[in-house]
Amino acid sequence: MARILITSALPYINGIKHLGNLVGSQLPADLYARYMRNRGHEVMFICATDEHGTPAELAAAKTGEGVAEYCARMHGEQAELAKGFRLSFDHYGRSSSGRNHAITQHLANKLAENGFIEEVVEKQVYSNADGRFLPDRYIEGTCPNCGYDKARGDQCENCTKQLDPTDLIEPRSAVSGSTDLEVRETKHLYLRQTLLKDEIDQWIDSQAGWPILTTSIAKKWLHDGDGLQDRGITRDLNWGIPVTKGDAPWPGMEGKVFYVWFDAPIEYIAATAEWADANGKSDADWERWWRTDKGADDVRYVQFMGKDNVPFHTLSFPATIMGSREPWKLVDYIKSFNYLNYDGGQFSTSQGRGVFMDQALSILPSDYWRWWLLSHAPESGDSEFTWENFQQSVNKDLADVLGNFVSRITKFCRSKFTEAVPEGGAFGEQEEALIADLTTRIRAYEGHMEAMEVRKAASELRAIWVAGNEYLQSAAPWSTFKEDPEKAAAQVRLGLNLIRLYAVLSQPFIPDASAAMLAAMQTENDAWPEDVAAALSALPAGHVFSVPDVLFRKISDEEREDWQARFAGVRS
Ligand code: 2FM
Ligand code: ZN
Repeated sequence: MARILITSALPYINGIKHLGNLVGSQLPADLYARYMRNRGHEVMFICATDEHGTPAELAAAKTGEGVAEYCARMHGEQAELAKGFRLSFDHYGRSSSGRNHAITQHLANKLAENGFIEEVVEKQVYSNADGRFLPDRYIEGTCPNCGYDKARGDQCENCTKQLDPTDLIEPRSAVSGSTDLEVRETKHLYLRQTLLKDEIDQWIDSQAGWPILTTSIAKKWLHDGDGLQDRGITRDLNWGIPVTKGDAPWPGMEGKVFYVWFDAPIEYIAATAEWADANGKSDADWERWWRTDKGADDVRYVQFMGKDNVPFHTLSFPATIMGSREPWKLVDYIKSFNYLNYDGGQFSTSQGRGVFMDQALSILPSDYWRWWLLSHAPESGDSEFTWENFQQSVNKDLADVLGNFVSRITKFCRSKFTEAVPEGGAFGEQEEALIADLTTRIRAYEGHMEAMEVRKAASELRAIWVAGNEYLQSAAPWSTFKEDPEKAAAQVRLGLNLIRLYAVLSQPFIPDASAAMLAAMQTENDAWPEDVAAALSALPAGHVFSVPDVLFRKISDEEREDWQARFAGVRS
């Protein structure tokens, strides 16, 4: 039995996430966590909301709530949706937690002690009317390139040109609209990542078997252009983790907080401590996942994230950990994803384009989404959600193949025998062939799941469902029954056992349907099929079952058109 620590990239607090966010980190992380638990490993699966930074402040200002109040409410909403999608986190934390404050401040102090922090004086825009410095997104003005009058200090949304606040024509505060702005000097802490460049380079080189997507992004940032420069890790904001030295404010850094990307990955650690707090555990209980001097040296740590997050997890967060010169666990494997697009364009949070988690659950249960998203995960390149494809996968894979198999065999048994596994007959050549085929396929499925090859795993699982259907089609117990009822009994017994087997194998992808299948088979035996032949006699003759309700319903053309039209516009 291994110990596996799994983290999903932390979703930003500002708003409900769309399906593209979900499939890029939380959902595949959940698939892996479920699979590893089912194989008997000890798993710690961690996620949290990423609550600091300007987007949180701006979103709160929009709703008129205080930012702390806004974050608390949105954390609750996101946690509820995570449950709705059956994301099986051991803990869903908050980067604004006391634990994260303490660990972030601790690590910054360690970095300073070890010479990895430098104080740098920068020039930034200050608003006299607002009495504060304005980060890029808080400054608006006219784009010098295209004349768009709502360009932001970092970028023009209209023509996409990257800007500096000082490029803007007639700059104004996005907070108050005031044009009474001036450039002032302000001091910030910089993380001297350049000093750790060789160490990080060697560490990345020593990672055998990381996905190409992960390594290529890491290497590009490390060696090309302006990747690994010393970076500011503090900001002139009120909302965030205060910059302290020991127990006191850091001299000259009063009123400043850490940059959101500094404290967010540290929350992976802090959320595990929050897990301990929430479950009456001790510090030793979470430290054995994170401190290599306290038992974490035999932990395998796997991170899941979208490709835009890779630089932070391969360079800056490791720099923080390494520079602390403390024995914290470094990541062992980074599974990264490309983007999921939406119906000919991009999913967009700011523009409200696409299907968001709450909307998805309002039209269909989570298993339908889980199956489509995972079986189309953007692994080797970007992938696209279209309503036609969604309808087709659901109707074919879930309704025709899996659902139909379950309903056919249970109903046939009820009508010709009883609602109990029939006795009599024995498995013959056809059954042996099926067992051999399934054995090969299940071992392949395990290999893909272990390697986190999500699409390959999904297609192997689908092939396993298809094999059962094909067996049923050719064994045809409804015909056999007439001349050889004993043989038909054996065939049906195998079919009913296949339902239990499918429930076990499918659980990581479609946990609700899996539970419904086990409930229908009236068994709690969810043991993994180490031996397929044995697994297919787990339900003995005489074992009582019930015919389940329809597992998956089909999506009609009218529904598809209706949804397509409903989600074509932008969310208000
Ligand atoms: O890109 C994002 O959605 C970030 N909120 C991810 C943070 S991951 C981690 F570092 F916390
Ligand atoms: Zn422009």
